[in-house]
Amino acid sequence: MTEHSRLAPPPTTTPSGPERALAALARAGRRLRYHRRALALVAVLFSALALLGGLAGWLAAAGFVVMAMIVAGRGPVDKDDDDLLREAERARRGPGADREPDSWRLLLDAVPDAAVALDHNFNIMHFNARLEELFPKARAGQPLSQLSRNPELNDAVEKAVTANEAVVVDLYERVPVERRISATVSRIGGREIRRGLPFMIVSFRDLTEQDKLAQMRADFIANASHELRTPLASLRGFVETLQGPARDDPEARDRFLGIMSSQANRMTRLIDDLLSLSRVEMRVHLPPRGILDLNEVAAYVAQALEPVAAASKMKITVTRSDGPIRIRGDRDEIVQVLQNLVHNAIKYGRENGHIEIAASRVLDGSPPQPRALIAVADDGPGIAPEHLPRLTERFYRANVAASREKGGTGLGLAIVKHIVIRHRGELRISSVVGKGSTFSILFDELGTGTART
Ligand SMILES: Nc1ncnc2c1ncn2[C@@H]1O[C@H](COP(=O)(O)OP(=O)(O)OP(=O)(O)O)[C@@H](O)[C@H]1O
Ligand SMILES: [Mg+2]
Repeated sequence: MTEHSRLAPPPTTTPSGPERALAALARAGRRLRYHRRALALVAVLFSALALLGGLAGWLAAAGFVVMAMIVAGRGPVDKDDDDLLREAERARRGPGADREPDSWRLLLDAVPDAAVALDHNFNIMHFNARLEELFPKARAGQPLSQLSRNPELNDAVEKAVTANEAVVVDLYERVPVERRISATVSRIGGREIRRGLPFMIVSFRDLTEQDKLAQMRADFIANASHELRTPLASLRGFVETLQGPARDDPEARDRFLGIMSSQANRMTRLIDDLLSLSRVEMRVHLPPRGILDLNEVAAYVAQALEPVAAASKMKITVTRSDGPIRIRGDRDEIVQVLQNLVHNAIKYGRENGHIEIAASRVLDGSPPQPRALIAVADDGPGIAPEHLPRLTERFYRANVAASREKGGTGLGLAIVKHIVIRHRGELRISSVVGKGSTFSILFDELGTGTART
């Protein structure tokens, strides 16, 4: 949640005219409250003088208005942004929040990491906004244990009292979410206590995301090597057989060479997919520049894969909308997306099954917005619900044996996902076991004004 949204006042019902006027008066009054005493004195003087000397009505009225503002400003009125910001500031800095902040507090606020200043009792003197994001319960004046009950943190702070350098410790937290936070505890200056100045600074860095990425990278390399090693092991086995026992067996040799060729093809496909994925990932932040018509791409892919579908005794039909559906996109990439989806429908669909590619305009979201949709639906065995959220992960397969048997590398939907992200589209997968699966992608449609062919 951003600072701004957290501090935004709650929505209220529309006030009537007089209420609005009163609230404005009260607000203005509260803005003047720091000069309340001086203003009250001036107002009383003005009123008295005006009443005594010649009864200049406008002067008296002005005096009463200022008094009314001050009185209204003291009443219970809605807090505005300034008040809420001041409250957050008071939590961070303690009761002195209204005073001009000390320069060390300003320095702490400017530190990019989450940081907290402690006094010699290890109570919180001040903390910056990043710390509040990490530990929402932080309050000035409270002990450090308020942030984290982790005993390692306390040990590190005690160690830092006598240590000559910063003490770094990893904190593993389980609640409210699992995370790894690195804390660096540094004593400021010598060991003597200086009034009003912090004794220690503790800075924190949340390493959870970094760990997750490192884990994903390690998993990816392990998976990729495993996928390559399997056909490689099979190739080596056949080479050895052909060099040895099957050397003079022409029938076995032909059969083995056929298998070896399909294994080599599988390795080539895997490397092509890995390269394709890395190319797409590299360009994911570059918005596509071309313009394409989803109707045209649907018809093109159906025609290109018709023979492959026919070989599996399947039929592809295309449902097009009236007129072109133009989106901003890279045609080659959208063709690749549709080809992957239709290939899957052919591979995992049923014999004599039917595949439909549909391009249409739909109303989506709330409030409903018109969007361009392309969907590939099959009437195959479907996918069990527990697999759906993970299908776009690299190397994830709902049915490992079926995928391997059909030469799948488990990268097709990961490539689809990245291309869709690059196109600022949205991939939705729905499936009913025994009935079939539908893979839909929603895009922003280009208005007719911007469309060019
Ligand atoms: N239309 C579908 N019907 C049933 N299962 C599907 C369908 N599409 C995908 N799946 C399941 O999702 C898994 C992941 O698909 P993905 O396209 O990423 O990999 P793959 O098809 O195994 O290999 P690749 O596409 O890289 O050759 C598949 O292994 C399959 O289990
Ligand atoms: Mg696939």
